[in-house]
Parts: sequence; structure tokens; C-alpha cells
Amino acid sequence: MGANGKGYTQLKSFDVCIVGGCGHVGLPLGMAFADAGQNVVLYDINEITIAKVNNGVVPFKENGAEPVLKRVLKKNKLTASNDPDVIGSAKIVITVIGTPVDEHLNPRVHDIIKAIKQIEDQLRDDQLLVMRSTLYPGVTDKVHEYLKKQGKKTLVAFCPERIAEGHALTELYELPQIVAGCTPEATKQATALFKVLTKKVIVTKPVEAELAKLFTNTWRYINFAISNQFYMIANASGHDFYNIYDAMTQDYPRLKSFAKAGLAAGPCLFKDTMQLSAFSGNNFFLGHSAMLVNEGLPDFMIEAMKDRYKLENKTVGILGMAFKGENDDPRESLSYKLMKRLELEADTVLCHDPYIQDDRFVSLSEIHKKADIIVLAAPHRLYAEEDWKGKELVDIWNYYGKGGLI
Ligand SMILES: NC(=O)c1ccc[n+]([C@@H]2O[C@H](COP(=O)([O-])OP(=O)(O)OC[C@H]3O[C@@H](n4cnc5c(N)ncnc54)[C@H](O)[C@@H]3O)[C@@H](O)[C@H]2O)c1
Repeated sequence: MGANGKGYTQLKSFDVCIVGGCGHVGLPLGMAFADAGQNVVLYDINEITIAKVNNGVVPFKENGAEPVLKRVLKKNKLTASNDPDVIGSAKIVITVIGTPVDEHLNPRVHDIIKAIKQIEDQLRDDQLLVMRSTLYPGVTDKVHEYLKKQGKKTLVAFCPERIAEGHALTELYELPQIVAGCTPEATKQATALFKVLTKKVIVTKPVEAELAKLFTNTWRYINFAISNQFYMIANASGHDFYNIYDAMTQDYPRLKSFAKAGLAAGPCLFKDTMQLSAFSGNNFFLGHSAMLVNEGLPDFMIEAMKDRYKLENKTVGILGMAFKGENDDPRESLSYKLMKRLELEADTVLCHDPYIQDDRFVSLSEIHKKADIIVLAAPHRLYAEEDWKGKELVDIWNYYGKGGLI
């Protein structure tokens, strides 16, 4: 077999096949099942990531993942492949392909149905199909109905992934798993599957689980928007948000979940809030408001910087291009919006990220040498030791503890 998993001569039988298995959700999940003794195959269409995984390389930053990957590969418990026949050779099929929104911010439900149609011929009557991507409400039942219409008796369940990127290999074991079968037998088999990883399983109907996942992400997105809106109110009136934040939160348990201000984006929170919005007939005012606040924060920062510094003569250094600290995922990162907007206002914009390869980025020493203003966009740990003395610092996270006022 080649590194991309092509050329299976004898098809092995697997316990679990993960469709989209080399992605941020699929790979840690597959490793966790393999580490628990299951025979796992990761089916994916990305040959580069397949080759990396089969060679023991985790294609993205995930805490503690590389030793686990090497261990399960050595024990022959996990393999990645682009051969669709592996789907039919597994007892359980889990799909975790991406579910982005379209150019009108509506869910791309057809992508999921299309993906199911692509694997339909491989699905068997005695298999359990677990949908794990975040889904628009009603899609799991639609998939179940579709398969029934094709004469398939495949069991179908929705079991949403709720990990935070980077923390999968602890959270998969610690978080309770929501399990929602389209039939009692599907619920029973999906419960048995996830009990291998976690102690607690919570059973709901499929549409309840789909809403639970969207509500969870939207709740977080709105939470960030509250902090960001308060930050903008404080900053616009010349007050440092973090003095107020500290006064509010110190020894005050009711504000435990009050986030710090910061760029809130990434591949999940924004699009899931928009999915919920589409589900509510675009009458989800709170969700849309959160989107305006979070997506508007880079613009607010630039307007405040324009007032304070003469940006047109300045070189601005942006630190951290990933969508959050200690992460290498650039998907939907607001750092790029900040970069594009600043390129219109400042003389020069220099970007740095220790975890993302991009020819446009420069070294930290170049930023030290050339930048007049430093904007901390994603608070990577590496930046903690940097001394930006002599430069203007824009730190909306208050990462350096010197206040967040622009
Ligand atoms: N990233 C997260 O932390 C996270 C957390 C919870 C839920 N989710 C949800 O999980 C889903 C997947 O997200 P992700 O971040 O893992 O995406 P991803 O892009 O990292 O992974 C998707 C994988 O699917 C593969 N793929 C795409 N189409 C395919 C097809 N037709 N057949 C086989 N493989 C295919 C891609 O090559 C990729 O490896 C999304 O619905 C997302 O909202 C993500």
C-alpha cells in the first residue's frame, strides 16, 4: 500500500471508517478510537494529508497528537486511505466533512446530501452511519429518509463533535457525548460506540442534537460579542475596558463566563451562528448583532488607531494570523481582515505567525526592526516574552497586562 493508502490488494475489515478522516475533527477522533483498540480507517480525498498521516505527521497543531498517531500506526490500528471501498469494509461509518455556509451565509445542505450520495454505494444495511459534522437542523432525518428511499436499511445517528480545536485529545474523553439515533437501534449502537471514549452519553432526538450543537456555538459567539461590544463602548469613551473588566469579575462568580475582548472568528462560530439564523428565517437579531459586533471589531480597531497614530506614515506589525492563540488554523481568521484593511491605511503592514507557513509573512526580528505599531491579533504563547518597548502596542486582549486602550 502506498503512503496515500492507494492500492489495497486485500481489503481489511475495520471497526470504524471516518469519512473526512484527515481533518481537524476526523483525525483526533480516529486516533482516539484506535488508541482504545478499534481498527480505524480514515477515508479522505486530500492525498497530501493522507500521506502525512500515514507517515506519522499530524497535518495541523493538535496538543499531544503526534505520539498518539505514531503509537496507533505502529500497532496497525489506524490507516488513512483515498480508496472509497474502505467505507464498505467498516462496521461503523462516521462522516465529518466540513459544513461551511455559502456566499449568502446560508447552509450548504446539498453538500452533505451530495457527500452521502457519493458514498451511498458503499453503505451496507448492517452498518451504522454516524453524522458528526455540525448540521443544519433536520439534515440527519433527511439523510435517513433518503437512504430509506434508496432501499437501504443503514442505521443513522447524529453525534455532534463539541471539542475545541487543539484540545480534542483531552475533551473527547472528558465531554459528555450527545447521541441522537433516527431509530432506537441506531441510538443503542451509537451509544455503545462513544462509551468507548466517554463515560457520559446524553440521548436526544436528531433535530434536538442538531440545535444543541448550533446553540452551543452561537452562545459562545454571542458571549464574545458582549465583551467586544463593551470593549468598544469603553474604548470609544476613552476608558480602559480591562480596568472595568477587573472590577466586574474579581470575586464575582456570576461573571465567570464573561470573556475577554478579542478577535472572535474561526471555522465554526460565525458559520454556525449564520446556520441558526437561516433556520430562524433570518429573524435571529441577536445572532446577526453578534456577527456585526465581532466582524466589526477589526474596523473599530483601525478607526481608533487612525485617531491615535498617523497610520499613513507608519509600519504596523500584526502578531498571530491564526483564528485563535496557540493554533495554526487560518480559516476565517479576522487577522486577515485586519491585514487587508490596514494595508489601505498604513504605509506598510508586516505579518507574523509562528505556526502558519505563508510567503507573505516576515520574521519576528523584522517586525522588531521595522514596525512602529504592534497589533496583537492572536495571542500565541511565543509572544509573551517579547519586549515591545519603544513601540506603540495595540493589545485588545490585555495579553501583556498593560491595559487594552487604543
Ligand atoms: N474544527 C473544529 O474544531 C470543529 C469542532 C466541532 C465541530 N466541527 C465541525 O466538524 C466538521 C468538520 O470540520 P473540520 O474542522 O474537521 O474540517 P476540515 O476541513 O479540517 O476536515 C474535513 C476533511 O474532510 C475531507 N473531505 C472533504 N470532502 C470530502 C469527501 N467528499 N469525502 C471524503 N473526505 C472529504 C477534507 O479533505 C478534510 O480532510 C464541520 O461541520 C465543523 O463545523 C469542527
